[in-house]
Amino acid sequence: MESLLPFLILALGVLVQLCCCSPPPDPVVCTHGTANCTVTNTYGSYTDRSICHAANITYPRTEQELVAAVAAAASAKRKLKVATKHSHSIPKLSCPGGRDGTIISTARLNRTVHIDAAKRLMTVESGMVLRDLIAAAAAAGLALPNSPYWYGLSIGGLLATGAHGSSLWGKGGAVHEYVVGLRIVTPAPASQGFATVRELGADHPDLDAAKVSLGVLGVISQVTLALEPLFKRSVTYLKRGDSDLADQVVPWGRLHEFADLTWYPQHGTVMYRQDDRVDISTPGNGLSDYLTLRASPNHGTIGVRVAEESMQMKNVTDVARCAAAQLPVSVQEQQAFGFTNDGVSFTGYPVVGYQHRMQASGTCIDGPEDGLLTSCIWDPRIRGSFFYNSGFSIALSKVPAFVADVQRLRDLNPDMFCTGVDGRIGMMGRYVKASSAYLGKAEDSIDLDVLFYRSRTYGIPRVYADLVDEIEQMALNKYGGLPHWGKNRDFAFDGAIAKYPKADKFLLVKNMYDPDGLFSSEWSDQVLGIRGRPTIVKKGCAIEGLCVCSDDSHCAPEQGYFCRPGKVYQEARVCSTETNDWFLSNMRIVCENSQ
Ligand SMILES: Cc1cc2nc3c(=O)[nH]c(=O)nc-3n(C[C@H](O)[C@H](O)[C@H](O)COP(=O)(O)OP(=O)(O)OC[C@H]3O[C@@H](n4cnc5c(N)ncnc54)[C@H](O)[C@@H]3O)c2cc1C
Ligand SMILES: *[C@@H]1O[C@H](CO)[C@@H](O)[C@H](O)[C@H]1NC(C)=O
Ligand SMILES: *[C@@H]1O[C@H](CO)[C@@H](O)[C@H](O)[C@H]1NC(C)=O
Ligand SMILES: *[C@@H]1O[C@H](CO)[C@@H](O)[C@H](O)[C@H]1NC(C)=O
Ligand SMILES: *[C@@H]1O[C@H](CO)[C@@H](O)[C@H](O)[C@H]1NC(C)=O
Repeated sequence: MESLLPFLILALGVLVQLCCCSPPPDPVVCTHGTANCTVTNTYGSYTDRSICHAANITYPRTEQELVAAVAAAASAKRKLKVATKHSHSIPKLSCPGGRDGTIISTARLNRTVHIDAAKRLMTVESGMVLRDLIAAAAAAGLALPNSPYWYGLSIGGLLATGAHGSSLWGKGGAVHEYVVGLRIVTPAPASQGFATVRELGADHPDLDAAKVSLGVLGVISQVTLALEPLFKRSVTYLKRGDSDLADQVVPWGRLHEFADLTWYPQHGTVMYRQDDRVDISTPGNGLSDYLTLRASPNHGTIGVRVAEESMQMKNVTDVARCAAAQLPVSVQEQQAFGFTNDGVSFTGYPVVGYQHRMQASGTCIDGPEDGLLTSCIWDPRIRGSFFYNSGFSIALSKVPAFVADVQRLRDLNPDMFCTGVDGRIGMMGRYVKASSAYLGKAEDSIDLDVLFYRSRTYGIPRVYADLVDEIEQMALNKYGGLPHWGKNRDFAFDGAIAKYPKADKFLLVKNMYDPDGLFSSEWSDQVLGIRGRPTIVKKGCAIEGLCVCSDDSHCAPEQGYFCRPGKVYQEARVCSTETNDWFLSNMRIVCENSQ
């Protein structure tokens, strides 16, 4: 029971609406003013645990200053990269190539440029944080119909990685579907002053490259979004068993405009989010304030981490692990995932509210600074939450079979999911439509998110490490899944670009806009299949998700983790503590059954 205490502290902590919060630290730190800098992400750790270096950083405040910054670097053929206010991408997307590139921060490019209420168009600078964008639109009586659920992202950064909310209706769940124009600054020949502004209107073919660009085409200066009149929506979470999930997963997305679902395989339950647009006169002033995106007292966050680490010890039973995982799941359910009916308390479903109060949240970025008493739970300045976030989309045509496979895996031992999946956010599914963007989804899909334990030490395995390894490889290889560009461990990107039928068109635009690859880095070249591979093969690499194991040394043999086939998807290669006997006996059953 003692080990459950920190979870209770968290549970109580999130009940209180905290007044303050230390905003996240700056991802770029320089030792000499704006020179000699390091860059990392909001977690303080890229997927390979490295930190990047850059010669310097510049903070343009206008498009003119932006053009000057690109021209200065381009004339000297220096590497460039855009960083944002918080840099949330998990892989090394915000690193300039080499060690002496220049970082262009969009933190001060955060203004609204123009709102045309009649045409429902809004133009903003690319560094504008989603929170401010949503608020500015609402102030003009407009709404962005879909967005990520976390409002700490910048519009430029979230577009670059294809970020999304959830919808199969209208234009769908991804924000880039609402882009009808943008201005992008790219390198140019000396005759044009080394930098140029390209204006891409709704019908410009390059817009399909620029609206999801991984940041390798140039710096987006401004974005024009097609909005809708501000509307209200009505949310109800429905808890059901998961026995018919394979049959429900596709129709559910078609049934409700903003549907999503959260699957807890160990419990055998699904929280279906029934979420629809309602008439603006429907009473209700609901608010989303997602529990894990709130400011949390740091003593509680640290306590939760200590408890989580203790659950990783060998002498802990699955029963204890599942009991510990149950608590956050119950809290989420009881507190309606952080929804309130009036901004203060949750009194029951449905929660009806205006789009701008319901679509996204993230009060932990709101400040004011409180000396690190409270912060986002992943703030790297405290030893709080530290986790992997895998996100992959599977085409709707294939997702029922994927669900059935995961259920087969679950049925072998449901308790595996307690440490891996259930106790975090479950397996969260959001719908995204097929896109004309060259690096967007080729088919209507469901994007699944899994959060799981990450050790602070290289090569230390998680309990049941094989579970998520197998699910990921199944999704990506057996079902042709696509990794979210801004999430995942490195191995997920190996071969990903080959799954994009229009990748060649993207690369043509890249060669035209930035022929010298100034905005490209080692990582983006690996991911785009231009040079090298995104995997790193070395001792312990599969434990870190840097590779798929092909040898026991890629796991942690000295800690009892060996490279084994998957249990359901036998082509997978996972780090497992199962003995060879387990596989021999199960293979025999498989053989007998197939006779
Ligand atoms: C807590 C949390 C919650 C999240 N929730 C969601 C979610 O609900 N849905 C979802 O889809 N994703 C989600 N994500 C992932 C997120 O969408 C991506 O990581 C996103 O790219 C981060 O945006 P950012 O503004 O932090 O950009 P960064 O990570 O700083 O940048 C991403 C890339 O875009 C480039 N870039 C940024 N701005 C520009 C510009 N103006 N011009 C050219 N290139 C640019 C950068 O160089 C970099 O390559 C979440 C991430 C976190 C940490
Ligand atoms: C540059 O920064 C690094 C730390 O990132 C530091 O070790 C080094 O001394 C700095 N170099 C100079 C010239 O200040
Ligand atoms: C960055 O450093 C390089 C070389 O050290 C210099 O030429 C360039 O002007 C600097 N840029 C900025 C924006 O400080
Ligand atoms: C832009 O950023 C500055 C500095 O962080 C902040 O003070 C200001 O409120 C922001 N402006 C908008 C419109 O969000
Ligand atoms: C497990 O072992 C650690 C030390 O290795 C010990 O501190 C802890 O109390 C043990 N837990 C249980 C449940 O026995």
